[in-house]
Amino acid sequence: MRLDKYLAESAAGTRKVVRDYVKDGKVTVNDQVILNPAEEIDEKADTVICLGRETIHTGKVYYMFHKPAGCVTARTDEDCRTVLDYFDPDHRAGIFPVGRLDKDTEGLLLLTNDGEFSHNLMHPDKHIEKTYFFWAFGRLNEDSKAKLLSGISLKSEEDLAIAYKLEVVEEGNYQDLRERIEPLIRRDIRMNSSRQAVVAGYLTISEGRKHQVKRMLKEVGCYIAYLKRVSIGELYLDEALPKGQYRELTKEEIELVRHLN
Ligand code: URA
Repeated sequence: MRLDKYLAESAAGTRKVVRDYVKDGKVTVNDQVILNPAEEIDEKADTVICLGRETIHTGKVYYMFHKPAGCVTARTDEDCRTVLDYFDPDHRAGIFPVGRLDKDTEGLLLLTNDGEFSHNLMHPDKHIEKTYFFWAFGRLNEDSKAKLLSGISLKSEEDLAIAYKLEVVEEGNYQDLRERIEPLIRRDIRMNSSRQAVVAGYLTISEGRKHQVKRMLKEVGCYIAYLKRVSIGELYLDEALPKGQYRELTKEEIELVRHLN
Protein backbone atom coordinates (compact mmCIF):
# COMPACT_ATOMS: atom_id res chain seq x y z
CA MET A 1 0.00 0.00 0.00
CA ARG A 2 1.21 3.56 -0.72
CA LEU A 3 2.54 5.37 2.33
CA ASP A 4 0.23 8.41 1.90
CA LYS A 5 -2.84 6.17 1.58
CA TYR A 6 -1.77 4.21 4.64
CA LEU A 7 -1.32 7.42 6.67
CA ALA A 8 -4.64 8.90 5.54
CA GLU A 9 -6.34 5.68 6.62
CA SER A 10 -4.52 5.78 9.96
CA ALA A 11 -6.11 8.97 11.24
CA ALA A 12 -2.90 10.91 10.57
CA GLY A 13 -4.51 13.55 8.34
CA THR A 14 -6.02 14.03 4.91
CA ARG A 15 -4.07 12.77 1.88
CA LYS A 16 -2.83 16.30 1.21
CA VAL A 17 -1.72 16.86 4.79
CA VAL A 18 0.06 13.52 5.14
CA ARG A 19 1.89 14.00 1.83
CA ASP A 20 3.35 17.20 3.27
CA TYR A 21 4.34 15.38 6.46
CA VAL A 22 6.21 12.84 4.36
CA LYS A 23 7.91 15.44 2.15
CA ASP A 24 8.92 17.38 5.26
CA GLY A 25 10.69 14.32 6.69
CA LYS A 26 8.21 13.82 9.51
CA VAL A 27 7.50 10.17 8.77
CA THR A 28 9.66 7.13 9.36
CA VAL A 29 9.10 3.56 8.22
CA ASN A 30 11.04 1.04 10.30
CA ASP A 31 13.17 3.90 11.71
CA GLN A 32 14.07 5.23 8.27
CA VAL A 33 12.90 8.66 7.10
CA ILE A 34 10.89 8.28 3.89
CA LEU A 35 10.42 11.36 1.71
CA ASN A 36 8.34 9.81 -1.05
CA PRO A 37 4.57 9.73 -0.32
CA ALA A 38 4.16 7.02 -3.01
CA GLU A 39 6.59 4.61 -1.31
CA GLU A 40 5.08 1.14 -1.03
CA ILE A 41 4.90 -0.19 2.50
CA ASP A 42 3.66 -3.38 4.11
CA GLU A 43 0.80 -2.20 6.30
CA LYS A 44 0.79 -5.42 8.31
CA ALA A 45 4.51 -5.66 9.07
CA ASP A 46 6.05 -2.17 8.90
CA THR A 47 6.26 0.25 11.82
CA VAL A 48 5.27 3.72 10.69
CA ILE A 49 5.87 6.74 12.89
CA CYS A 50 4.31 10.08 11.98
CA LEU A 51 5.08 13.23 13.97
CA GLY A 52 6.71 11.05 16.62
CA ARG A 53 3.67 8.80 17.15
CA GLU A 54 3.29 5.23 16.02
CA THR A 55 0.35 4.89 13.65
CA ILE A 56 -2.35 2.28 13.73
CA HIS A 57 -3.99 1.45 10.44
CA THR A 58 -7.71 1.85 11.08
CA GLY A 59 -8.68 1.66 7.41
CA LYS A 60 -11.48 3.74 5.99
CA VAL A 61 -13.92 5.17 8.48
CA TYR A 62 -17.43 6.50 7.97
CA TYR A 63 -19.37 8.45 10.56
CA MET A 64 -22.92 9.73 10.81
CA PHE A 65 -23.02 13.02 12.72
CA HIS A 66 -26.15 14.74 14.00
CA LYS A 67 -25.10 18.30 13.33
CA PRO A 68 -26.49 20.88 15.70
CA ALA A 69 -27.02 24.50 14.67
CA GLY A 70 -24.20 26.89 15.52
CA CYS A 71 -21.18 25.03 14.14
CA VAL A 72 -19.58 25.34 10.72
CA THR A 73 -18.97 22.49 8.30
CA ALA A 74 -15.23 22.91 8.03
CA ARG A 75 -12.13 21.23 9.37
CA THR A 76 -10.89 24.41 11.05
CA ASP A 77 -12.26 27.90 11.66
CA GLU A 78 -10.73 30.81 13.50
CA ASP A 79 -13.92 32.10 15.06
CA CYS A 80 -16.42 29.33 15.24
CA ARG A 81 -16.85 25.81 16.52
CA THR A 82 -16.53 23.29 13.69
CA VAL A 83 -18.19 19.91 13.21
CA LEU A 84 -14.78 18.30 13.83
CA ASP A 85 -14.69 19.83 17.31
CA TYR A 86 -17.44 17.39 18.29
CA PHE A 87 -15.20 14.38 17.54
CA ASP A 88 -12.82 12.67 19.97
CA PRO A 89 -9.19 13.44 19.11
CA ASP A 90 -8.69 9.71 18.41
CA HIS A 91 -11.40 9.75 15.76
CA ARG A 92 -11.04 13.08 14.07
CA ALA A 93 -7.58 13.09 12.49
CA GLY A 94 -7.85 12.60 8.76
CA ILE A 95 -11.62 12.76 8.48
CA PHE A 96 -13.52 15.48 6.66
CA PRO A 97 -17.20 16.33 6.09
CA VAL A 98 -18.94 15.02 2.99
CA GLY A 99 -20.48 18.17 1.51
CA ARG A 100 -21.64 20.94 3.77
CA LEU A 101 -24.55 22.23 5.78
CA ASP A 102 -24.99 25.89 6.70
CA LYS A 103 -24.07 27.00 10.20
CA ASP A 104 -27.72 27.18 11.24
CA THR A 105 -28.75 23.92 9.53
CA GLU A 106 -29.06 20.78 11.61
CA GLY A 107 -29.20 17.11 10.78
CA LEU A 108 -27.47 14.40 8.84
CA LEU A 109 -23.83 14.98 8.00
CA LEU A 110 -21.40 12.24 6.98
CA LEU A 111 -17.70 12.39 7.76
CA THR A 112 -15.06 10.04 6.38
CA ASN A 113 -11.43 9.68 5.41
CA ASP A 114 -12.48 8.13 2.08
CA GLY A 115 -12.05 10.75 -0.64
CA GLU A 116 -13.57 8.64 -3.37
CA PHE A 117 -16.71 7.93 -1.34
CA SER A 118 -17.12 11.64 -0.67
CA HIS A 119 -16.53 12.63 -4.27
CA ASN A 120 -19.06 10.10 -5.55
CA LEU A 121 -21.73 11.25 -3.12
CA MET A 122 -21.30 14.94 -3.72
CA HIS A 123 -20.65 15.14 -7.43
CA PRO A 124 -23.55 17.08 -9.04
CA ASP A 125 -23.67 14.62 -11.98
CA LYS A 126 -24.59 11.82 -9.57
CA HIS A 127 -27.91 13.50 -8.68
CA ILE A 128 -28.11 12.04 -5.21
CA GLU A 129 -31.29 13.08 -3.45
CA LYS A 130 -31.08 14.90 -0.16
CA THR A 131 -34.20 15.60 1.85
CA TYR A 132 -34.63 18.52 4.24
CA PHE A 133 -37.29 19.21 6.80
CA PHE A 134 -38.12 22.91 7.11
CA TRP A 135 -40.21 25.44 8.94
CA ALA A 136 -40.62 28.64 6.96
CA PHE A 137 -42.48 31.90 7.28
CA GLY A 138 -44.87 32.26 4.39
CA ARG A 139 -47.34 30.20 2.44
CA LEU A 140 -46.82 27.48 -0.12
CA ASN A 141 -49.81 27.57 -2.39
CA GLU A 142 -50.35 25.26 -5.36
CA ASP A 143 -48.74 27.73 -7.73
CA SER A 144 -45.56 28.00 -5.60
CA LYS A 145 -45.36 24.25 -5.26
CA ALA A 146 -45.69 23.79 -9.02
CA LYS A 147 -42.92 26.36 -9.59
CA LEU A 148 -40.56 24.57 -7.20
CA LEU A 149 -41.30 21.18 -8.73
CA SER A 150 -40.88 22.34 -12.31
CA GLY A 151 -37.68 24.29 -11.58
CA ILE A 152 -37.07 27.77 -10.35
CA SER A 153 -34.38 30.20 -11.37
CA LEU A 154 -32.05 31.39 -8.65
CA LYS A 155 -30.38 34.77 -8.88
CA SER A 156 -27.21 34.85 -11.00
CA GLU A 157 -27.48 31.17 -11.94
CA GLU A 158 -28.34 29.79 -15.34
CA ASP A 159 -29.63 26.33 -14.47
CA LEU A 160 -33.00 25.97 -12.83
CA ALA A 161 -33.09 24.56 -9.30
CA ILE A 162 -35.58 21.71 -9.07
CA ALA A 163 -37.41 20.27 -6.11
CA TYR A 164 -37.65 16.55 -6.78
CA LYS A 165 -40.20 16.10 -4.06
CA LEU A 166 -42.11 18.53 -1.91
CA GLU A 167 -44.48 17.61 0.85
CA VAL A 168 -46.21 20.14 3.06
CA VAL A 169 -46.95 18.65 6.47
CA GLU A 170 -48.15 21.66 8.42
CA GLU A 171 -49.69 25.03 7.59
CA GLY A 172 -51.08 27.69 9.85
CA ASN A 173 -50.17 30.87 11.65
CA TYR A 174 -47.31 31.47 14.02
CA GLN A 175 -49.50 32.03 17.03
CA ASP A 176 -51.06 28.58 16.76
CA LEU A 177 -47.83 26.74 15.98
CA ARG A 178 -45.29 28.67 18.06
CA GLU A 179 -44.91 25.94 20.68
CA ARG A 180 -43.74 23.58 17.96
CA ILE A 181 -41.48 26.06 16.20
CA GLU A 182 -39.83 28.01 18.98
CA PRO A 183 -37.95 25.13 20.69
CA LEU A 184 -36.24 24.42 17.37
CA ILE A 185 -34.99 27.93 16.77
CA ARG A 186 -32.11 29.42 18.71
CA ARG A 187 -32.38 33.02 17.61
CA ASP A 188 -35.10 35.41 18.70
CA ILE A 189 -37.85 35.97 16.25
CA ARG A 190 -39.59 39.28 16.04
CA MET A 191 -42.93 38.92 14.40
CA ASN A 192 -44.89 41.75 12.85
CA SER A 193 -48.03 39.82 13.45
CA SER A 194 -48.88 36.69 15.36
CA ARG A 195 -51.07 35.87 12.36
CA GLN A 196 -47.89 35.45 10.31
CA ALA A 197 -48.32 32.40 8.07
CA VAL A 198 -45.96 29.49 8.65
CA VAL A 199 -45.44 26.27 6.78
CA ALA A 200 -43.53 23.06 7.48
CA GLY A 201 -42.55 20.36 5.02
CA TYR A 202 -40.00 18.16 3.35
CA LEU A 203 -38.13 19.27 0.29
CA THR A 204 -35.85 16.99 -1.74
CA ILE A 205 -33.10 18.28 -4.01
CA SER A 206 -30.40 16.44 -5.88
CA GLU A 207 -27.75 19.13 -6.04
CA GLY A 208 -25.80 20.98 -3.42
CA ARG A 209 -25.74 24.61 -4.43
CA LYS A 210 -24.96 27.15 -1.75
CA HIS A 211 -27.98 27.80 0.52
CA GLN A 212 -30.06 26.02 -2.11
CA VAL A 213 -33.14 25.17 -0.06
CA LYS A 214 -33.28 28.63 1.52
CA ARG A 215 -32.89 30.32 -1.86
CA MET A 216 -35.48 28.14 -3.57
CA LEU A 217 -38.08 28.80 -0.91
CA LYS A 218 -37.25 32.50 -0.83
CA GLU A 219 -38.05 32.70 -4.53
CA VAL A 220 -41.64 31.76 -3.68
CA GLY A 221 -41.84 34.10 -0.70
CA CYS A 222 -41.01 31.64 2.09
CA TYR A 223 -38.25 32.40 4.58
CA ILE A 224 -36.62 29.48 6.35
CA ALA A 225 -36.75 29.58 10.14
CA TYR A 226 -35.47 26.06 10.70
CA LEU A 227 -33.74 23.58 8.41
CA LYS A 228 -32.67 20.01 9.04
CA ARG A 229 -31.30 17.42 6.62
CA VAL A 230 -33.05 14.14 7.28
CA SER A 231 -31.71 11.88 4.56
CA ILE A 232 -29.15 11.34 1.84
CA GLY A 233 -30.54 8.84 -0.64
CA GLU A 234 -31.95 5.98 1.40
CA LEU A 235 -29.78 6.76 4.41
CA TYR A 236 -31.79 8.47 7.16
CA LEU A 237 -30.55 10.38 10.17
CA ASP A 238 -30.72 8.05 13.17
CA GLU A 239 -33.17 9.96 15.35
CA ALA A 240 -31.80 8.09 18.40
CA LEU A 241 -28.51 9.91 17.86
CA PRO A 242 -28.59 13.07 19.99
CA LYS A 243 -27.61 16.40 18.45
CA GLY A 244 -23.85 16.93 18.56
CA GLN A 245 -23.11 13.18 18.66
CA TYR A 246 -21.75 10.80 16.08
CA ARG A 247 -21.49 7.10 15.46
CA GLU A 248 -19.92 4.84 12.87
CA LEU A 249 -22.10 3.91 9.93
CA THR A 250 -23.03 0.24 9.88
CA LYS A 251 -21.83 -1.90 6.97
CA GLU A 252 -25.38 -1.89 5.59
CA GLU A 253 -25.56 1.91 5.78
CA ILE A 254 -22.22 2.30 3.99
CA GLU A 255 -23.43 0.02 1.22
CA LEU A 256 -26.73 1.88 1.05
CA VAL A 257 -24.97 5.14 0.25
CA ARG A 258 -22.25 3.58 -1.87
CA HIS A 259 -24.80 1.94 -4.14
CA LEU A 260 -26.33 5.29 -4.92
CA ASN A 261 -23.44 5.95 -7.28
N1 URA B 1 -29.82 24.20 1.63
C1 URA B 1 -29.63 25.28 2.42
O1 URA B 1 -30.16 26.34 2.17
N2 URA B 1 -28.83 25.14 3.49
C2 URA B 1 -28.22 23.98 3.83
O2 URA B 1 -27.52 23.91 4.84
C3 URA B 1 -28.43 22.87 3.00
C4 URA B 1 -29.23 23.00 1.90
